[in-house]
Amino acid sequence: MAVDILFEVRPPAAGESEALAAILAAMERHYDTAVTDDEAAAATARLLGGHAPARCLVALAAGPSPRPRFIGITLFAPLFPGTRFRDVMYLKDLFVLPEARGAGVARTLVAGVAQAAIDAGCERLEWVTDRGNALARAAYRALGATEGDRITYRIGAQGLARLAATGHAEARRPRPARCKPEE
Ligand SMILES: CC(C)(COP(=O)(O)OP(=O)(O)OC[C@H]1O[C@@H](n2cnc3c(N)ncnc32)[C@H](O)[C@@H]1OP(=O)(O)O)[C@@H](O)C(=O)NCCC(=O)NCCS
Repeated sequence: MAVDILFEVRPPAAGESEALAAILAAMERHYDTAVTDDEAAAATARLLGGHAPARCLVALAAGPSPRPRFIGITLFAPLFPGTRFRDVMYLKDLFVLPEARGAGVARTLVAGVAQAAIDAGCERLEWVTDRGNALARAAYRALGATEGDRITYRIGAQGLARLAATGHAEARRPRPARCKPEE
């Protein structure tokens, strides 16, 4: 359903840490991740201080409110290399508050990321979503994105430590090559 909301999309400003922390926490709650105020504040400080690997755009609700209120957010970062060693822009997160959905907020945020990708000389914009996220998939198709058939892999904290340990010198034993060159 189309909703009429006035908003503007731009990077968050230095004095908007409270609003940024609030939308970051709302996004994490959407994914059932409980974040503490300290964690949200630390993420906010990294983003506003330019110390996070990702950049950020927010949708600011227009209105008379004395404090800024963000109704949507996207986080994105370049990856290297893409085809012919050009950068690829990767859209890591996109989130719009439930009451602001259907008003074009996501479209405007992703358009902002597209412009940032062009400005950074990227050759394409990529992202993933869950196969079962029908709402997001419909929105992405409406934006003109095509769906690929790649599989996403993930290793959690414990698996990460286990895998890293297998690469330590003491854990490595010489092993026969799997593929022998033709004699
Ligand atoms: C997916 C999400 C970001 C969409 O945000 P939104 O602000 O409601 O989307 P928009 O209003 O900008 O709509 C973008 C396009 O998707 C289409 N769309 C939006 N909701 C739709 C729906 N329910 N069914 C079909 N198409 C839809 C719109 O028609 C629009 O295309 P148009 O501009 O050509 O009309 C939002 O629902 C959300 O935050 N969901 C929870 C978090 C999430 O799943 N994020 C994506 C993770 S990768």
